[in-house]
Amino acid sequence: MKAYRAALAHCTRHPKSAADDGMLQTIDDALLVVDDGLIVAAGTAADLLPGLRPDTPVTDWRGKIIVPGFVDTHVHAAQLDVIASPGHDLLDWLERFTFPAEAAFADGDHAALIANLFLDELLKNGTTSAFAWPTVHQQSADALFAAAHARKLRLITGKVLMDRNCPDNLRDTAASGAQDSAELIARWHGKDRLSYAITPRFALTSTEAQLRTAGELLRANPGVVMQTHLAENHAEIAAVMASFPKARSYLDVYESFGLLGSHSVFAHCIHLNAEDRARMLASGSTAAHCPTSNLFLGSGLMDLRTMLDEGLSVSLATDVGGGTSFSMLATMAAAYQVAQLRAQLRAQLRGGWTPSVATLLYLATLAGARAMGADAQIGSFAPGKEADFAVLDCAATPLIARRCARAVSLSEKLFALITLGDDRAVSATYVLGQAASVQAKHA
Ligand code: GUN
Ligand code: ZN
Repeated sequence: MKAYRAALAHCTRHPKSAADDGMLQTIDDALLVVDDGLIVAAGTAADLLPGLRPDTPVTDWRGKIIVPGFVDTHVHAAQLDVIASPGHDLLDWLERFTFPAEAAFADGDHAALIANLFLDELLKNGTTSAFAWPTVHQQSADALFAAAHARKLRLITGKVLMDRNCPDNLRDTAASGAQDSAELIARWHGKDRLSYAITPRFALTSTEAQLRTAGELLRANPGVVMQTHLAENHAEIAAVMASFPKARSYLDVYESFGLLGSHSVFAHCIHLNAEDRARMLASGSTAAHCPTSNLFLGSGLMDLRTMLDEGLSVSLATDVGGGTSFSMLATMAAAYQVAQLRAQLRAQLRGGWTPSVATLLYLATLAGARAMGADAQIGSFAPGKEADFAVLDCAATPLIARRCARAVSLSEKLFALITLGDDRAVSATYVLGQAASVQAKHA
């Protein structure tokens, strides 16, 4: 048994609408009690300290805020070295920077090196769970699974399927992609906290035959999930519609191969119409919002408000290397800014909504847990859940310290950390109750 004393914030349920922020619970002087990697209790220090066995070690993190470990629901491990590559748009960026960098993962040593650097970067940023992307190479998925397993992380990944419209050195076939995926499922799916995701890159880089095998793999392997890209960029959408002329929409391509469902996460989802959103909702599919990437590649401003109001499953994601930061704090700040810009640009129609701290923290934690099918295990501090958490530092920088000192509530401090923070604001990250990353100044 161990306990941690700090302020604490988490979301206890899913919101009913974009305006709902009743799911945020904040405690100024809290105790988080952990036993054998699981949450025993989260409550006020006044309530819990008297009942604690006297020999229970209490780590004093007062002045800091404990939040659930962040869940990054779409991030490319293999694009660690691609971050900050200035493409003119999505397809130009893919061709000039991303595909060449991914080709290097044919080398298993390189794949292992980057997998380890990538997961350390996640932990430094308070991220304890992710939907991660390796490359088309089977050994790059093996490397990511092995590195996550060594760190006891909850991670979902799968080898990328791509059998057309890409360089030869990144191309599989429908048959080899299915075979490699099946072998990886047998090796890794369900091993401790790891799960497999069938990972067709996007409709443009898979033939109909490959999308069909993706749907077959999904149906044949219970518990296996699916991740892909959807409706990110206008040129991409035009190319998809030219490739699949009978499809009602880009989403419809995936639906026609049986790829929608509560096991499916679609990154971006910027340019969806009402029918597409209704199909997403009816199928229980998740839209992973990637605001830093959508700004960096100029892809567009996702309509977060409407999606939350309609009840869609929406989560948050860095999408590194299209995204510009591994920090889910910085990603929450970008989600806020994108919503603000969208509201102002459309002010004549329907202005004036920005996501609350409750919504932002929800998107970065419990929403991601639901996307992973793991909201009974992670995403909040309900007793019995896994003790994955991040410790945020209200004095991380002189400016953050000044701003937080002037805040009148915990939620105002959190907003300052979201707006100003990044990995510097994460003092420590705990995985199953064990310190996985502690910044030097807090060690
Ligand atoms: N669409 C297909 N591949 C990618 C990728 O690697 N990054 C992003 N942002 N979009 C994609
Ligand atoms: Zn992506």
